[in-house]
Amino acid sequence: QKEKTLGLIKPDAMNKIGQILDHVYRNGFMITKLKMCKLDRNEAFEMYQEHRGKPFLNDLLEYVTSGPVLAFEVVGQNAITNWRKTIGPTDPATARSEAPNSIRAQYGTDKTRNACHGSDSLTSAARELEFFFPSTGPKRRNTAQ
Ligand code: CMP
Repeated sequence: QKEKTLGLIKPDAMNKIGQILDHVYRNGFMITKLKMCKLDRNEAFEMYQEHRGKPFLNDLLEYVTSGPVLAFEVVGQNAITNWRKTIGPTDPATARSEAPNSIRAQYGTDKTRNACHGSDSLTSAARELEFFFPSTGPKRRNTAQ
């Protein structure tokens, strides 16, 4: 089943954009939207709303607002699950032993600075794509309607 999901290169891996996007294509995905931006604290809090109350939330927000990020729409067969497999386990140390070819194994540093993000469900994929690539607004509205 063809799906779309969000990919996000985090600040620590922005010097590896080329390698990571190459990795995306080598794993059979297509990139259909792409945007570089710097999130402020409120935006990061909105993006990571499912982690409210978690002990690592503050570190995560500090880190993900520390520099620019690259957001992209990833399209492919079962993209939500398969993109997460391509990224690998949250902790790059685990990734290096269990999924050495994964993005986090190759480009991640630690549990916070783990290079890349992927949406974890159909609901969060839709929400996170809408967050970075809003589908409504004057530029999108059909003038005839
Ligand atoms: P990401 O896929 O962007 O989604 C949530 C992020 O929270 C995750 O990657 C990690 O960077 C971070 N995270 C999850 N669990 C932990 C943890 N136990 N300690 C620190 N950071 C974590």
